[in-house]
Amino acid sequence: MTSLRELVPADLFKFNSIVFDPFVEGYHMNFYLRKMIQNPKLCQVAVAPDDRLIGLLVSTRGVSKNKIGEEFRPTYGHISLLAVAADYRRLGLATCLMGQFTETVERYADWYVDLYVRPSNLTAMQLYESLGFVKFRWLSYFYENEHGYELRMPLCRDVERKSLKGITKYRFYWLYQLPYALFKEFLKGLKVLFFW
Ligand SMILES: CC(C)(COP(=O)(O)OP(=O)(O)OC[C@H]1O[C@@H](n2cnc3c(N)ncnc32)[C@H](O)[C@@H]1OP(=O)(O)O)[C@@H](O)C(=O)NCCC(=O)NCCS
Repeated sequence: MTSLRELVPADLFKFNSIVFDPFVEGYHMNFYLRKMIQNPKLCQVAVAPDDRLIGLLVSTRGVSKNKIGEEFRPTYGHISLLAVAADYRRLGLATCLMGQFTETVERYADWYVDLYVRPSNLTAMQLYESLGFVKFRWLSYFYENEHGYELRMPLCRDVERKSLKGITKYRFYWLYQLPYALFKEFLKGLKVLFFW
């Protein structure tokens, strides 16, 4: 039976088949070790019956700089990495890992969960939207070669959905960022023109 357990340092030598995917951001070993130490419960792996790692979720908790209602320093959960081995996809594994994560941050009474995703990652977008995440803001060139979205999902503590405050403003945020993005494209074009 597939089971979930905490990520341990020895797993870092076993999860290449999961993280070698164009949509998975590459991180240094120190990154994983730091996350494991910060909050081991929020770093989970899914293990197949043959002891193979088939799913991974790395997340952490943070304190928001922005005020939410009367709460000056609302806490939130942040997902840094979610990936499932290619031959175990569409079986509900990511949903299961996300469910376990949400249960943990709900127990900490956090306000919301956030993560960053590439707009071209339609599979992940569909997964997150099916779980209740909404596009909070558009981030110009968040990734080296692509823009990004910050997705957010309010948790039970945020009854009035205050963590989504400003979402309308951010819907049009890309309008402010557009001239900058176009200028960057223009510079890229010049670079190609002169250095080829
Ligand atoms: C995104 C990813 C984690 C999904 O894992 P998964 O275990 O296959 O997801 P689930 O089986 O739990 O799917 C849950 C829902 O997500 C959506 N979904 C998942 N895979 C999909 C696909 N290939 N096409 C369309 N929708 C898809 C569906 O809505 C699905 O619900 P349904 O099966 O009831 O229709 C996996 O495809 C993956 O590892 N991708 C590469 C890494 C990545 O993109 N990580 C996210 C970076 S932000």
